[in-house]
Amino acid sequence: MGKAIKKLAVLTSGGDSPGMNAAIRSVVRTCAYHDIECVGVYRGYEGLIEGDFKAMDARSVKGIINKGGTILKSARSKEFRTEEGRKKAFKQLTDANIDGLVVVGGDGSFTGALIFNQEFDFPVMGIPGTIDNDIYGTSHTLGFDTALNTVVDAIDKIRDTASSHNRLFFIEVMGRDVGHIALNTGIAGGAEEILIPEEDLGLDRLVESLNKSRKSGKTSSIVIVAEGDKIGKNIFELKDYVDDNMEGYDVRVSVLGHMQRGGAPSCFDRVLASRMGVKAVESLLEGETNYMVGLLNNSVELTPLDKAIKGKSKINLELLRVSDIMST
Ligand code: F6P
Repeated sequence: MGKAIKKLAVLTSGGDSPGMNAAIRSVVRTCAYHDIECVGVYRGYEGLIEGDFKAMDARSVKGIINKGGTILKSARSKEFRTEEGRKKAFKQLTDANIDGLVVVGGDGSFTGALIFNQEFDFPVMGIPGTIDNDIYGTSHTLGFDTALNTVVDAIDKIRDTASSHNRLFFIEVMGRDVGHIALNTGIAGGAEEILIPEEDLGLDRLVESLNKSRKSGKTSSIVIVAEGDKIGKNIFELKDYVDDNMEGYDVRVSVLGHMQRGGAPSCFDRVLASRMGVKAVESLLEGETNYMVGLLNNSVELTPLDKAIKGKSKINLELLRVSDIMST
C-alpha cells in the first residue's frame, strides 16, 4: 500500500468524447465527498508537463454533466512520450503535492500513464473515454453510446433523401481500427451492408449483395462504412467502383466525420461516467494503481492497465449474423 492520498489530479487526453465532462465532475465530486483535494489538468499530458493546473471543488463542476467535449481540453502530447517530458510532469505533480492521477482517454493515453507509473511509482487510474469503444476490459467506453445515437439520427435523415431519390448511400462513420460504431448503427439504421475492419467482405461480394437486394425490390439502400475498413478506406473510390459495376442506382457518399464526437452525452454515458469516476477515485484511495475502470456485466470493475492496452476489444459476432438476417 502506498502513502495516503490527499490530493488527486484529473486530465482528459486523446480524442475527446461525450461523457468526459461527466467523468471530470464525478472525479471532482468523489474527491470532495472523501474530503480530499482535486485539481484539473488542462490539455492532457501537455498541461501536466507545463503545470497547467486548476484547483477544483464540488461547485466548480456544476452545469457540465450535460455538455459534450471536455472543459479541461484535450491534446495528444509528443513531449510526454519522451523521458525528459515525463520527468517535467513528475516534478510538476510533486511540486503541487499531488498524490495520484486519473486519466480519462484511450489506449494511447493509458500507455503514457503506465510508463509514467513504472518510471516514478506514481499512482494512476484510467477511465476509458473514446467513441470508438476499442478498449479491452469494458463493454462500453465513454461516448460510444452517444456517438451511436448521433450516427443513427444522421442515418435516419439520409434515409429520407435516399428513399425520395431511389439512391444508394455510402455513409462513413468513425472507427480507425474497429467496427463497433458501424456494426451497431448499421443494424439500428437498417443498413443493407456494413463494412468493418474485422471482416473483409470484398468488392465483388458487396456488389453481388447490393444487386441481389435491388432485384428483391429495394429501391434505395444504405451501406455503413467504418473508416478503417479495407475496401472502404477510400470511400470515394469505393463509390466509383460500385457506380461502374452495378446498374439501377444513383450513388452518393456522406462522411459523418467529427460531428460524431460532439453533442450532449446520452443518459447512459452520463450514468457510466458518474459510476466510473467514483470507482476510479475510491480505488486510488484504497491504494490501487495501474488499473482501468470498466463496465463488465453491468458492474464497474478494474482491469490492469497493461491488459487494457494489449487486449483487443472484439466485435460481437452475433451482431454480424443479426445484420445479415435483417438485410434479407
Ligand atoms: O476518437 C477516435 C477517433 O474518432 C477515430 O475513430 C478517428 O480516426 C480519430 O479519432 C480522428 O481523430 P482526430 O481527428 O482528433 O485525429
